[in-house]
Formats: sequence, structure tokens, C-alpha cells
Amino acid sequence: MSNDSSRNFKRTLVTSALPYANGEIHLGHLAGAYLPADIYVRYLRLRGQDVLYICGSDEYGVPITLTADKLGIDPKELVDRNYESIRKSFEGFGMSFDNFSQTSREIHTETAQAFFIDMHAQGLFKQRTTKQFFSSKQNRFLADRYIEGTCPRCKSEGARGDECESCGATYDSIELINPQSVLDNSPLELRPTTHWFIPLGDLQEKLETFIDAHPEWKANVRQYCKGWFEDGLTDRAVTRDLSWGVPVPLPDHEGKVFYVWFDAPIGYVSATKEWAEAQGDAESWRQWWQDDETRLVHFIGKDNIFFHALMFPAVLMSQSENYILPDNVPANEFLNLEGQKLSTSRGFAVWLPEYLEKFQADPLRYTLARNLPETRDVDFTWNGFLTRNNNELGNNFGNLINRVFTFIHKYFDGVVPEWNEEMMTDLDRKALREVKEDLEKWDAHLAEFEIKAAMEACFHAGQVGNRYFDESAPFKSRKTDLERCGHSLGIIIQILRHLCLMLAPVVPFGMEKLWSWLGMKTELWNNGWDEGILDIPSGRQLGKQEILFPRLEQEAIEEEIERLNKMLED
Ligand code: MF3
Ligand code: ZN
Repeated sequence: MSNDSSRNFKRTLVTSALPYANGEIHLGHLAGAYLPADIYVRYLRLRGQDVLYICGSDEYGVPITLTADKLGIDPKELVDRNYESIRKSFEGFGMSFDNFSQTSREIHTETAQAFFIDMHAQGLFKQRTTKQFFSSKQNRFLADRYIEGTCPRCKSEGARGDECESCGATYDSIELINPQSVLDNSPLELRPTTHWFIPLGDLQEKLETFIDAHPEWKANVRQYCKGWFEDGLTDRAVTRDLSWGVPVPLPDHEGKVFYVWFDAPIGYVSATKEWAEAQGDAESWRQWWQDDETRLVHFIGKDNIFFHALMFPAVLMSQSENYILPDNVPANEFLNLEGQKLSTSRGFAVWLPEYLEKFQADPLRYTLARNLPETRDVDFTWNGFLTRNNNELGNNFGNLINRVFTFIHKYFDGVVPEWNEEMMTDLDRKALREVKEDLEKWDAHLAEFEIKAAMEACFHAGQVGNRYFDESAPFKSRKTDLERCGHSLGIIIQILRHLCLMLAPVVPFGMEKLWSWLGMKTELWNNGWDEGILDIPSGRQLGKQEILFPRLEQEAIEEEIERLNKMLED
């Protein structure tokens, strides 16, 4: 592969940010942390690399208990339900995780606690006592989101724990006037509480050295880090007074759990351990996390940069055992919808389970991949989706594939016709050279996480194929020169084999079929590349094709557009 650094590594561990188990997945999630990672992972598998792809749901944190309280169910019941739903819709979308775990599982509790105990035993945490609101009625400390009162600035009532919706002020919850619990309006009192802090301030120099060693990272990630370093890193509490979370594993600390951003990234490690156990080789997780020849790549949205580029590396470098640090943290910007910011609280989003009830995964994967928020925010529109599906996926790729197979089945019994060096014209050579160059560009871009640019090369190869089909015109030569006709079709089959490689990570459902119709012997996701770059010989029997990417009519998306428009009016 063209990426220099990947040559020094034996294997690649890829993670996607663990989604909160507090709702469904929407398009913004997909474009940020999931689809790019899945494309990259499939690309590596196609190239025969040793890769492990880890994810799971992030199941602690206050919003989850708030939702569970509202529904009157146990938080565990809520996260299990949401986990199952997220897992299913990811599967429908073609996410190829090796393991999709949950942070509420026992193995995660053990793993996160071991991380904490190790740092605690080394005396790395700072312990501090602060005052926090306590409800004597509920006998517990309350997080900001459970508190409301009178705004200390504008004096309006119903201000939230740390911000006032009336005047927009933000403040420390201890400034609130008449603080009350949102659950039962009981009055709150300030009580001292002790917490553990990770001394990010002390670790800043080490973290700067770590980031400086990666000039190849995306500019947005480096820029954010630079800003935080300039402000100076401050110590962060890794514990909270809550009942829902990984318990702090120290004596006399009932009612204390880990801060969700402390335990969640450790979920990557827990999920790897769980995977290793399921493989029957429990200790093999170590080669993925503790061997310097493993390359770790975290795919995330830009709101997660701090935790993946600084906080989690700080935790990893503080362990007494050797842990690798991320080799790259490709973070994406945000996806807007029909020109507006997504809003999950208002429901202004496109939800994956609903999408999958009506449409196939491939067109959405393709549309998003063509327009990923790699370096700036992008806009998803349903009309854009329709156009990409019909004009690009359908016309540029699907039709070409369909025409060629139909033709060969009709006039050559589905057998790759004789094509050879002697019959090669300049037109043939040029087309083959161009798609080969496109494949090389595609390869080089993907190795650098440049999916949009890789897609450009792929799209171009489709255009080359269509142009060649029109110009070599087998539909004409069939009547005048059957040998020439067969030869041209043989050339187009080679073009399709290039297209299959390039499209596979993006539209895997369709390309797995094309791969088998082309009569390939190896498994696409196990170094299919090595077979895919070889000529498909004359005489090979091809499979029977079907329509891969059906056209969509305007009516199919009208309903979606209307639903979103209505929401904007409300
Ligand atoms: N749940 C977080 C989010 O959706 C991401 C957690 S990533 C992890 O923004 F590394 F902490 F797991
Ligand atoms: Zn106010």
C-alpha cells in the first residue's frame, strides 16, 4: 500500500466512537464516525491486512438515567433495548464490526476498574473535595441536569443546573437561587464530596510531544489540540456521585461511579477482550493493545476530539503496562440536513431504522461517501440522494454492469469472449490504462483516509467504462465483426473488475454480488485485491446478473421531504 507508515505495522485496530445507547442512529452519526471507518476497514480487508474493528454502545451517563426515569424503567433495561436496536440497524447498514459490545457488561466493569486501580496504585490521581448539591429526600447527590432553580442572572424561574434558557447565561450550579430537584422539586443542600482527578495539567508536555509526532493528522484535529494546549490543560474529575455507572472500586465509596468519558473509551479495550474470549484465545487482546506493531485508529466526530486525542491517550500512557497510543484520529465535521443543523431533541434528523424500512443500504452509503464531512460541514438533501442514486449509482455503474452482462449472456452464452494482446487498439489500451491509474489513485487516497477523493477516482473509472462501451460499440460490431465485439466485451469485463474493487468498501451489498458474477474464487474481504488485479481470462463462465441499484422515483422521497419541512414549520 502507498501509505508509508502502514508498512511498519503488522495489524490495524480500528474503532468507531461508541454511540450513546440513548436513542437511534441517524445520518449525522453515520457520516461522522461509522461509514468512513467501515469503508476503511473493508478497504484494509480487501487489501489483505490484519484488521480488527471494534465498537459497542456507550451506556452510562446522566441522559440515560433521565430517559429511563421518564419511561419508568431500569436504566439497564433501557440500554439493552437501545443496544439491540442500534446493533440491528448497523447490521442493516452493512457495518462490519468484529465486535459490537456494551459498556454495561461485566467485562467492561472489570476492565475499567483495573485501569483505575492501576493509576490509583501509582498515586497518579489527585483527590479533591468540593461542594455539590445533595437531595436529602432522595439521599443522593444530583448532577447538573437534575437541578433547576432561579437564574442567578436574570432571575427567571426554571433555569437549568448550569444554564438559563431565558437569558442564555451559563454558570456553576451552586450559584442557582432556590435549587431544586427536577424529579420531585425537593430543596437541595450543598454537601462536601470527594473525587479523583486525572492530572492532565501535569501530562500536558507528554501529550504535546505525542501530538507533535503526528504532523500527518488531519488539520482540524491538530488545530483543536493546539488550542487546548494554548489554554493549558486542566485536571479532570474521573468520578461522579451517581448510581448508574461503573462503581469506583475503592472501599467506602458507595454511590460513586466513573465519569462516563473515563470509562467509555476503555470500552474499546473491553470489547477487544470480549472478542478475544469469544475466539477462544482470551490473551490475544494484548497483541491488539500492547504490541507496538499494532496501529490504532479512532474514527470519531469532531465533538469527540478532546477525549480521543488527549484524554484517553493520557489514560493509556499512565498505565503501568505498555499500551499503544492512537496512530491516527480521523475526525469528521458535521452533516447538516436540508440546509439546517440536525437536532435530535426536535427530531430533525433522518433515523437509520426508518431509512432501512424503505430503502437499501448501498444508496445511502454511496451518497454519504460522495459527500462526507471530511474537512468541512456538508449538507445532505433528499434530492441529492435521489440524483446520486439515479445518475451515479444507477447510470454510471449499475447500467454499465447490467448492459455488459446482458450482452454477454445474450450473445456469448455468458462466457467471457476471446480478448487478447494482438487485437488491442489504442482505444482499448487507453481505457485499461486509465482505470488502472484510477485504481492506484483510489488506493493511495484510501490509505490516507481520503474517502471522497478515492470516490472521485472510482467515479471517473465508471465514466471511462461508459465511454469505452460507447466508443468500442460492441452493439454495432456484433453484426459486422463478432471477434472484435467479443474482444471489446473482454476489455469491459476487466474494467468491471476494477470497478468492483473500488466500489466494494462503499456499496458492499452490491459488490459482493458482482464479485461472484465475475466468477472470482477468493473471498472479497480476505485479500480479494490479489485476485481482483489479475486479468479475467477468456472462457470463464459468468454468473447471471440482476439489477443492482434500482432507480428511485421522486415520489419515493417526497414523504421524507415533507416530514422534514413540517418539522421546520413547527
Ligand atoms: N458516546 C459518545 C458520543 O456519542 C462517544 C463515546 S466514544 C468513547 O459522542 F470512546 F468514549 F467510547
Ligand atoms: Zn437567566
